[in-house]
Amino acid sequence: MEVITALDFNEIEKAKSLVKSVGSCINYYKVGLELFVSSGPAIIDWLKSEGKNVFLDLKFHDIPNTASHAVSAAANYGADIINIHTQGGVDMMKMCVDKLNDECSKKGLKRPLLIGVTLLTSLDEAHLNEYGINDYSSVGYVLKLAGLAKECGLDGVVSSAQETKIIKENLGKEFLTITPGIRPLGNDVTDQKRVVTPKDALLLGSDYIVVGRPITKADNPAAAAESIIKEING
Ligand code: C5P
Repeated sequence: MEVITALDFNEIEKAKSLVKSVGSCINYYKVGLELFVSSGPAIIDWLKSEGKNVFLDLKFHDIPNTASHAVSAAANYGADIINIHTQGGVDMMKMCVDKLNDECSKKGLKRPLLIGVTLLTSLDEAHLNEYGINDYSSVGYVLKLAGLAKECGLDGVVSSAQETKIIKENLGKEFLTITPGIRPLGNDVTDQKRVVTPKDALLLGSDYIVVGRPITKADNPAAAAESIIKEING
């Protein structure tokens, strides 16, 4: 299991300084909306020049034509993982897969993993009920979205680690799970709802965990990252 650190910063220099201070124990970094909208793609080039793997977490959710063109544009940045919302619809997901494959084979690009966001880890059943989705538990809803994502040819999904086991049991071990909402014991849950510890995420079968504030807001980010790696390997 890989640890992906979320670079949720509003300035590129803050992101670089965090990466430098964490050092070699983290190989994957997530560039999300806040950093990408504030700083543009320069952070991706910099992370690649530092030998890091990049998850470009822009969660595209639009009509099929717009989302699929955004996905093929994102492939040109050299990110290793990109994502779209599964709730954008089956036609959108299929067109994103096709456009990504075409773009990468046409230009000889390394094809990034294409991952679908299911239900955000900041949402739970109360949200589903509020939106009139009363027939599903949050786990059932995530599994439904993950099944559709697999049928459309996506490589995996973003979900809570609480759903990893059922996703793997139903959709196979090869179907990847990237799980945010990770909180080492003793850490503040903040705005996340469906949280899991790093060790439990490993035991549940997550392929990647996304850890933001427990590392980025720690007094000593390198020590926080190392302690998570130790917890996983211990
Ligand atoms: O700071 P924290 O560990 O809560 O950060 C989690 C990161 O994962 C954030 O960048 C957030 O945008 C992202 N994320 C999430 N839930 C999802 C998808 C992405 O928390 N379902």
